[in-house]
Order: sequence, then C-alpha cells, then structure tokens
Amino acid sequence: MYAEKVLSGMRPTGRLHLGHYHGVLANWVKLQHEYPCLFFVADWHALTTAYDEPGTIAQNTWDMVIDWLAAGVDPSQATLFIQSRVPEHAELHLLMSMMTPLGWLERVPTYKDQQEKLTHKDLATYGFLGYPLLQAADILIYRANRVPVGEDQVPHIEFTREIARRFNHLYGREPGFEDKARESVKKLGSKRAKLYEELRTRYQEKGEEEALEQAHVLLNDAQNLSHGDRERLFGYLEGGGKMILVEPDAMLTEASRMPGLDGQKMSKSYGNTIALREDAESIRKKIRTMQTDPQRVRRTDPGDPEKCPVWQFHLIYSGEEVKGWAQQGCRSAGIGCLECKQPVIDAVLAEQEPMRERARMYEEDPQLVRNIIADGCEKARKLAQETMRDVREAIGLDYT
Ligand code: TRP
Ligand code: SF4
Repeated sequence: MYAEKVLSGMRPTGRLHLGHYHGVLANWVKLQHEYPCLFFVADWHALTTAYDEPGTIAQNTWDMVIDWLAAGVDPSQATLFIQSRVPEHAELHLLMSMMTPLGWLERVPTYKDQQEKLTHKDLATYGFLGYPLLQAADILIYRANRVPVGEDQVPHIEFTREIARRFNHLYGREPGFEDKARESVKKLGSKRAKLYEELRTRYQEKGEEEALEQAHVLLNDAQNLSHGDRERLFGYLEGGGKMILVEPDAMLTEASRMPGLDGQKMSKSYGNTIALREDAESIRKKIRTMQTDPQRVRRTDPGDPEKCPVWQFHLIYSGEEVKGWAQQGCRSAGIGCLECKQPVIDAVLAEQEPMRERARMYEEDPQLVRNIIADGCEKARKLAQETMRDVREAIGLDYT
C-alpha cells in the first residue's frame, strides 16, 4: 500500500467516560507513537441520527476534543480535525454514491439493527442509509490503510474495501494501461526497475505476500515518482489497473472491559459512568456507594468478589498484590467493603490526575483547542485535496 496511515473517528457524544478511555482513547494514545495518525470528530455522522437535535453538536464536539487531549492524544503527534471542516469528504461521498449499489448499503448489518433499536426516530432516510458510504469516504480520502474500530464497525470497513475495489475497477483502467505501466517502471531507474519486475513476478506467479510487501516499500521509497506513476505501479503489481483508492484493514480494538458502577457495561444511557474529567469528590462518592456482593449484608458476612462490580474495577486498576489482598479479605470477611474500595478510588484518581491537569489548560483557554483543530483541519484538508485531484482526474472531471 501507500505509506502506513491510521485513521479513526468518533461521533461527538459530549463528555467521555472511563469506558471510552479504556476502550478507545488509550489505544489512540499508543498508536500515535507508532504511525502517522488522523483522528476526527464525525459530526456529519452524528447528524444521521440526531438530525432533529442539531443544537448540541458543536458543544459536544468541543467537550469531546478536550477529553481526547486530556487523555493524552497529542496534537504534535496526531492530526485532530472535524469532518465537516473538510468538505472534500462530502464530494467523495457524492461521487462514490453514483457507483454504490443500493443492495450493498441495505445489507450492512447496522442499517437494520439501528433502525430496530432507535424506534423513536425515523431512520428511513437517505442520509442514514448512506452512513457506511460516508464512513468509506472518511477513510478512503486519506488513503488510510489502518482503521482502529470496535467489532461492531468491522462490516463498515469490509464495505469500504468493496467500494475501493469497485472504484479502482471502474476508474483505474485507462487506455493503454500496460504500456503506460511499463513506461512508469522505467522511471524507477534500472536497478529498482529490475527489482520491481522481479518482485512483481514472484507475487503474481507464486503469490508471495512478502514480495508484495517489499515492492510496496520500494515504491514508497521512490521519491521521484509522480502520483500517476505510483498509482499505476501499485495497480500493475497486483495485476489490476491504477490503484487510486487504497483498501483499508480494520485494526480491531479490544472491547473495553470497563464495567459501569453497577457491573453492566459503562454507558451514559445506563447512568453508571465516571466521566474523564469528573471532580475527585464526586468520584470518591460514586465508588463509595457502589454496589457490592449483595450477600455481604454485614461486615462479618464473607463475600464473593465474582459477584461484585468493585472486583471488576480491581481487575483493571490493581496489581497482583492488591488483588490477592481483596480476594482473601473478601472471602474471609477480613476486610470491609469500604476498605476494599479504597485502592480502587486511589487508582482512578491517580489515573485522572494528569488528565485533569491537561484539561484545565484547555478549559481555561478554549482558543488553544480552536487552534489545534484549525491546524489539524488544514493538514487534513491538504491530504484530502490531493486524493480528490486524482479522483476527479480518474473519473474525467479535470477541466484543465
Ligand atoms: N461509525 C463510527 C462509529 O460509530 C464513527 C466513524 C465515522 C468512523 N467515520 C469513521 C470510524 C471512519 C472510523 C473511521 O463509531
Ligand atoms: Fe466487593 Fe470488595 Fe466488598 Fe468483596 S470486599 S464484596 S470484593 S467490595
């Protein structure tokens, strides 16, 4: 593929909680050191279901971005932007809509699932049906090959791959492709050209994935190639036409094991969350009043950690020693529940300390956040415009 690139988006739901942190953000923070990363606020996606309550989107966006920054997403490492600020996403979405079979969209599982779940909303809309195509545009416009998402989103990535393949098939076949490809090979210089041909043969005749990977590296390192030549050579390598859009892979984010205060999954709609920027006193109170094993009525009753949501917190926050202490103390009634909760309280507060610190800076000076996003939008837009130039040209809309 083109150079490695990570892209992911989140709908602006407002303030985030520990479930988001342990499920998604901690992973983003790790990835930003390993790859070039683009993270964006999917505000148009929010409108597909919240089209009748637009007033909340902007505030939710700023609150969410502050939480990203608080969690350690670093704008000097990753590009942070807002989808609607890069209108090229909409242009690609429109162009791809021309070649997207309705059946493909109707078959995406989230389409029916969400309609059945959100019964109070009319989701029989054009925009909602097109949700996965908009997501495909988000990804393809950056030629991002790695997309960290939860399991529920995997069908959307699969759909994106199919759309990219269809697009390349329809628009990547220029007249005289083979001849042009051979000309492009020459531009690699004789040594690289020879290696390229060798790798191409090994891949096409023997299916050696390693040869394909090596050829990708070779093409990415060939600085002097034009866009057109590069697309052609990526395509020629695999026996197709030009590779204008790049098929992405899902990077499956492990489901968050973060339980809510009541032991169910942590979720705003269950009212069982701890927010990322919640004040210390409120966190203490929430954990102190958390349910425990219902069998432990009195301090002298032994308990079973497996039946206690506090134990789920220990699993995330405590080391072996503390976990052993809690197990033993609970089963023998050697410790009280408040005692057992204390190390969890301390660990949650310690985890949040640097987050609160970072958030304070942005809360005090919202202009900082505006600037980070303006910067990110500008960078993202440049990349998006490059792809759109190639896309328009491939479709025949380059009026030059
Ligand atoms: N659909 C994703 C979600 O609901 C959000 C999203 C929109 C996204 N566009 C994306 C995620 C592109 C990854 C890549 O969580
Ligand atoms: Fe839960 Fe700890 Fe109380 Fe046992 S001692 S019931 S694990 S809070």
